[in-house]
Amino acid sequence: MRTLTGIQPSGILHLGNYLGAMHPAIAAQGDNECFYFIADYHSMTSLTDAKLRRDYTLGVALDWLACGLDPAKSVFWRQSDVPEVCELSWMLGTLAPMGLLERAHSYKDKIAQGIAPNLGLFVYPVLMAADILLFDTQKVPVGRDQKQHLEMTRDLAIKFNQTYGETFVVPEPVIREESAVVPGLDGRKMSKSYGNTLELFGEEKAVRKKIMGIQMDSRTPAEPKPDADKNLAIQLLKVVAAPDFAAATEERLRAGGLGYGDLKKILFEQVWTHFAPARVRRAELASNLDHVDAILRDGALRARAVAEPVLHRARTACGLR
Ligand code: ADP
Ligand code: TRP
Repeated sequence: MRTLTGIQPSGILHLGNYLGAMHPAIAAQGDNECFYFIADYHSMTSLTDAKLRRDYTLGVALDWLACGLDPAKSVFWRQSDVPEVCELSWMLGTLAPMGLLERAHSYKDKIAQGIAPNLGLFVYPVLMAADILLFDTQKVPVGRDQKQHLEMTRDLAIKFNQTYGETFVVPEPVIREESAVVPGLDGRKMSKSYGNTLELFGEEKAVRKKIMGIQMDSRTPAEPKPDADKNLAIQLLKVVAAPDFAAATEERLRAGGLGYGDLKKILFEQVWTHFAPARVRRAELASNLDHVDAILRDGALRARAVAEPVLHRARTACGLR
């Protein structure tokens, strides 16, 4: 199976990114042909600081590699190193109805936040479709917020195939039910744009402070909490801790006797230990940035070798050549 996913370098990666996209992508290595990239063109729709983009791009590269992306098993590159994707985006854009793009949640959300929309933001889903279709992708591991984008990608692939003849593979999303929407520290979806994230590789003190600062209700430690499964710390524990441990902690909270302060300390310990081996690998990688850059450049060459024949197929199908 060919598996592909991308993450924008628009901020520092968090637990939602890890559980929604990175973990399933990394787990797919070995049995699948894996293509993972840093969506730097996409980040231009929301970030206009060149230095920050460079820093975040490096951060995303280090995070993926530290968390287990293995360049011997996966192709890993920067989106902008394979600019063929822009040409395909143009071709797909000519088949994308305005109405379809106007209905995109991501676009509507940004407008609702008062952001003045630019053309790039509007055609964001078309570029994303090009990312996916350019590699004959079959499976796309993502969080639930990307479901609609995947539906648009499928629509565009089908429409192109109907208009110009069989050209593209129609991909499927892979959305894990248990971590489809990881909650943020304020209870909304965890997202770089809401400032409610738990960073994967934050400083110890800062991570502890964020976790200890999670708002809870005013019930005393002794009181039983029949709604323990709705507790944010329990929900996060379920995604980072061993299932038995998370279930036992939930039971302790439900029964009464476990206070919120202690619960948050438990959550911190679990988060911190979960990423301990990755933290060591990340520090090693950060001390050899030439090596990281070489991985990305080699990835771009390998990605391009796959993309070129697909683009050629698309050009031929629509009479460009
Ligand atoms: P953000 O919302 O923080 O900007 P991105 O849009 O860059 O995150 O998402 C990158 C990947 O991480 C996507 O596959 C997205 O679905 C996934 N993802 C982001 N936030 C979450 C979350 N809270 N729960 C599950 N998956 C998430
Ligand atoms: N839109 C995705 C996000 O914000 C990032 C992305 C860009 C992507 N291209 C992709 C994800 C292709 C999967 C496949 O999360």
